[in-house]
Amino acid sequence: MNKTFRKIVGGALAVTALMGLAACGSKTEGDKAEGKTYKVGIVQFVDDASLNQIEAAIEAELDAKAKELGVTFDYTLYNGQGDATTLNQIGAELVGKGVDLIVPIATPAVKIMQSATEDTEIPIVFSAVSDPVGSGIVDALDAYFDSLTPSLLRGKRVLITAGPTYEKIDPVRFIGNYSTGKMGFAIAEECRRRGAEVVLVAGPVSQICHKAIRRVDVESCEEMFNAANEAMDEADIAVMAAAVADYRPAVLADRKIKREKTGAMTLDLLPTHDIAAALGAKKRDGQLLVGFALETDNAMVNAQEKLVRKNLDMIVVNSLQNEGTCFQSDNNKVTIMGHGFVEEYDKKPKSEVAKDIADQLEALLQS
Ligand code: CTP
Repeated sequence: MNKTFRKIVGGALAVTALMGLAACGSKTEGDKAEGKTYKVGIVQFVDDASLNQIEAAIEAELDAKAKELGVTFDYTLYNGQGDATTLNQIGAELVGKGVDLIVPIATPAVKIMQSATEDTEIPIVFSAVSDPVGSGIVDALDAYFDSLTPSLLRGKRVLITAGPTYEKIDPVRFIGNYSTGKMGFAIAEECRRRGAEVVLVAGPVSQICHKAIRRVDVESCEEMFNAANEAMDEADIAVMAAAVADYRPAVLADRKIKREKTGAMTLDLLPTHDIAAALGAKKRDGQLLVGFALETDNAMVNAQEKLVRKNLDMIVVNSLQNEGTCFQSDNNKVTIMGHGFVEEYDKKPKSEVAKDIADQLEALLQS
């Protein structure tokens, strides 16, 4: 990796005095470098001492991003803390330097950079995370580079259900399953990356998602059903990745059931809503509905039957017979089936499976 880094001191005292502290450097992919060098102006909003402290962290984040994207960043880092005049001067200097993008961290900087670049084509990319250490910068750069990738999912409203549902027996016990939500969260992230507006209706899971995804946390099938139904009205695409419990106790005990008093017991169960089938029944022309099929045997026959019965446009089939896939795994091995097509994929990380699913969604949107 070819890296230079220097702080502007001495000869640039005028600049330093005006702008608090400015530092510049270059993050390069080195011999693997491909594509463009981006001149980036980063406007931080911390005091000089703090900026000094976090420079190394920012360097490291930019370094990783440059490697990942295969691009070079020539960056200038400013401390924009001060008054509006300071920020205006930073804006003018960045325009004068001919930077390719400006990443302002903090709202006052965003506004002033926007007005400073009004007559230029320079994009202002910003993150709602005003994290001075660098994740805010990386987040903004991610959004910018994602936006350069054309996708048919851009601007589409995508509803995704993910994770298990818990059906309460009493205040401390429930009927549930092993789903972690990883697959649904990976699809949500991939759709977001491709520019979709994502609503993620998530059962009880410990996954985290990007702040741009609208997450609705639910627990039971009833709650997931209500949230999904509401979001379906606005959705262009719905992906049912949740492992919904198929039964719920007929009676919910309001106190903990005591073993000693109860002895052997039988639970009366009632079927829950079939969320996918309900959305399939009300699907409008132009809406796409995707389901999953988790099977232990006769996978393709059962999946084909679900495709038709739930009025789906596509179904992602996974089998519990493939070791190291499905529940609690980071990998999955799927077959994607639609009306008139079947495609079988190798075992791969769920983030990659999500890309295959998003590609198939784009193919459906095109057809
Ligand atoms: N599904 C749903 N609501 C349910 C059950 C399933 O929305 N109550 C959805 C799942 O999210 C998945 C698809 O329906 O997209 C198929 O789920 P799966 O568990 O494979 O099938 P089931 O319909 O539950 O049928 P079975 O358990 O008999 O295989």
